[in-house]
Amino acid sequence: MKKLIFPALLLASALMLPTPLRADEDTPLAKEMEKVDEAFKGFRRETDPVKGAKAAREAQDAVLKTVALVPAMIEKMPAGEAKDKAIAAYRTQMGQLFVIFCEVESAFIAKDLPAVTKLVESVKGSKKKGHDEFMEEEEE
Ligand code: HEM
Repeated sequence: MKKLIFPALLLASALMLPTPLRADEDTPLAKEMEKVDEAFKGFRRETDPVKGAKAAREAQDAVLKTVALVPAMIEKMPAGEAKDKAIAAYRTQMGQLFVIFCEVESAFIAKDLPAVTKLVESVKGSKKKGHDEFMEEEEE
């Protein structure tokens, strides 16, 4: 009977472990992207300039955090010129997205809703381009 206690305890603790995550799920970058997504949803149909400008600032903050991270797809590449090039291209696109979010904030402050609508379209374009280039599989 005693012999069974240890395996029983092992089994019990194994059952308490969290389910392993899918390899492409819940990376620090994906978590920050979720925040970008939330902030984007917060302004894409917003007509109140104060609320819109606030959401645009939240989007800026979230994008700044993504710049310091490296997409899983690039992380897996062997060290070398191709990897350095991919990281630089990724950061460039994120920097451009940051600028777009600053322009969205300015457009809300200026109460220029047609300008916001145009910028929302370019955000969608940046998202598609970024995901096509740097995401392993399309998960939108
Ligand atoms: C407003 C624009 C964007 C939004 C709302 C957005 C949203 C998201 C979301 C929600 C995820 C998590 C995966 C999912 O559930 O689909 C994700 C992942 C990802 N996004 Fe974006 N994204 C945007 C722009 C970009 C840009 C410009 C790039 C690249 C320059 C990019 C690169 C990635 C990558 C590489 C992942 C996978 C995470 C990883 O590799 O660790 N995204 N994005």
